[in-house]
Amino acid sequence: MHTLPLYKNPSLSIDRRVEDLLSRMTLEEKIAQLYQIWARPDNIDEVKAFIRQYGVGSRILAGSNLAGSGHEKALEIEEINEYQRIAVEESRLGIPILFGRDVIHGYRTIFPIPLGMAATFDPGLVEQAYTIAAREASSAGVNWSFAPMLDIARDPRWGRIAEGSGEDPYLASQMARAAVLGFQGKDLSDPERILACAKHYIGYGGAEGGRDYNTAEITDVTLRNIYLPPFKAAVDAGVGSVMSAFLDINGEPASGSHYLLTELLKGELGFTGFVISDWASVSELVHHRVVEDERGAARLAFTAGVDMEMVTQTYIRYLKDLVESGEVSLERIDDAVQRILTIKFRLGLFEHPYANATKASETLFSPAHQQVARQIARESMVLLKNHGDLLPLKKTGLKIAVMGPLVNQRAALLGSWTLDGLLHETQTIAEAMQQAAPDAVRLAPSDALQDEMLAEAMKADVITFFAGESEGRSGENHNVASIDLPAGQEELIEAIARLGKPLVVVVLAGRPLNLSRVARCADAILYAWHPGSMGAAAIADLLFGEEAPSGKLPASFPRTTGQIPIHYNFNSTGRSFSVVGETSPLEYAYVDRYLDVPGSPLYPFGFGLSYTMFSLSGLAIDRPEIHPDEVICVSVQVTNTGSRAGTETVQCYVQDCVASITRPVRELKGFKRVHLQPGESQIVTFQLGAEELSFYGTDRRRHLEPGTFKVWVGTDSTASLGTTFQVIKS
Ligand code: NOJ
Repeated sequence: MHTLPLYKNPSLSIDRRVEDLLSRMTLEEKIAQLYQIWARPDNIDEVKAFIRQYGVGSRILAGSNLAGSGHEKALEIEEINEYQRIAVEESRLGIPILFGRDVIHGYRTIFPIPLGMAATFDPGLVEQAYTIAAREASSAGVNWSFAPMLDIARDPRWGRIAEGSGEDPYLASQMARAAVLGFQGKDLSDPERILACAKHYIGYGGAEGGRDYNTAEITDVTLRNIYLPPFKAAVDAGVGSVMSAFLDINGEPASGSHYLLTELLKGELGFTGFVISDWASVSELVHHRVVEDERGAARLAFTAGVDMEMVTQTYIRYLKDLVESGEVSLERIDDAVQRILTIKFRLGLFEHPYANATKASETLFSPAHQQVARQIARESMVLLKNHGDLLPLKKTGLKIAVMGPLVNQRAALLGSWTLDGLLHETQTIAEAMQQAAPDAVRLAPSDALQDEMLAEAMKADVITFFAGESEGRSGENHNVASIDLPAGQEELIEAIARLGKPLVVVVLAGRPLNLSRVARCADAILYAWHPGSMGAAAIADLLFGEEAPSGKLPASFPRTTGQIPIHYNFNSTGRSFSVVGETSPLEYAYVDRYLDVPGSPLYPFGFGLSYTMFSLSGLAIDRPEIHPDEVICVSVQVTNTGSRAGTETVQCYVQDCVASITRPVRELKGFKRVHLQPGESQIVTFQLGAEELSFYGTDRRRHLEPGTFKVWVGTDSTASLGTTFQVIKS
């Protein structure tokens, strides 16, 4: 009688199945599970032969569908299934492959760039977006996304600020959780869910000068209090994989750091999934010059805690020898393999290894998905200025000129890392504006020269100018030394403004740009990021008032490049008291430290206007003091005092007044989006307890230090409505 091996029996526990499978594997088969292979046109036969002989942990799907992107290959389900078939049917143990791809802000339906999604301050909607991304990606055979990117970024020169949630640890943590839950759901074996990957662990956004891949020097206290929280949130939400970063941090490459990977991540945070290197970040340990050769790189990364190697081959070349020489233990091999196999079982891959092409055709870019993309794009856009209530525009009775370098673009709507978005499914701004208000909109010809644009503008009642960046000006290794608008745009906007007509500037961008000159001459500014497949329609929705803008800035907007880094949660200095200290205990101000520019940003973190007005009143705390194990409840009434419906995001900031180490002047610890009709009020409450009020000290432990705390509520990070409470010793 033929009996199934235990590991193939789905009624057994995953631990039991892993244990059984591990006991059957040769060392070569184990090491193959630690490898993420890259199949290219020139090595297909070799890759297939490898999988047949040993199996493989994962295959990276690195090609792009985006027409004209120059990437080498589109994704085809049949092709993915063929590799899976070889692994499942032709390799000795039949271990299925994880197919990993960069599904960063949507698969086929593209959502706003993650920085834009963070601007929604709406984790529920962001979770929905990632749920859709998972559904679409899984239908196409992808079962692992290299997202979310959780790197805190305080430097908008860095192109990858586009891929994360901006400068704030609390907001980024909420977004991290939303993304992980969206991708993975409650049960990874749900065929519509995929494995998420928290990246790039850790400190990658701290790259000096905003130069990607660069060194970062981050004190342990800052690392733990600022850079770690989103990763902790992802781990707490059950993220199954983490990617180790490229960079050298404090003199130690992150992909070779036992402290960061094994002690902090797997030990302290209790991460039970597996760590994958970033692309070649293991072999690049040689370039960092912390090891002599690739054998040394394999030894260092693997013993540090990198379980799977992306693309490069140091593990499959050297791990066997390293085990035989005693430099790497078999226990560590088994630990890494067990982590990877556990995820494969949890994903249900042994039972359902193949993708279903019929499902893909029904799912991809479905009308329901487009609807969510349009909603999240609307919520992501930030109204920065609206002088004289110029916006919203009327759809009739006005001549509205539509012009600017972004008007006829498609890829710039999508943003970076959109391997599977399709340009022909992405409306241009010109198309969307015309569709929304055919009687009013006057399009400048797409090849209009600047003098022709001016002439066209002269004939209009209102001018809408679409400025900003191409999709390729941000993203990986696409950094800029100046965050001014691309060359020539400011001059053109100023020339148009001199016509004296009402001027709306809509900016598409992957980062905070310097809007100082635009803000001086435009009447209204809408910051639209790279808003995704439905972004153009969403812009038209907002400009014509189908909905009021409600986005809030997830990063401070500097007045000039030279102000970088500037973030709202800076530490108190020895010379800040004269400004903030004496006058009022609740006052909060940036100190002017430059002779040529004020100390404050142009637009602060958390800022964003609506078409209506809100007022906050009746701030109350439910008790004046708490013990460290108690929670204080802060409440405030928010009222829509304008004449239109709108959404406000009420934000709660906290300061630990005296602490054993210098602490930020304030930190975001809660936010709530509230939709209100004109005249309507609502009470918003925030709970503050040990989680919100404690911090990591120099001893690497969390402390909640008794004493006075200040709390402010408001509509951006300069909130001034505040009170104090005490945390008293137990
Ligand atoms: C390198 C990037 O840093 C990382 O974010 C991405 O997931 C991998 N390449 C795979 O494409």
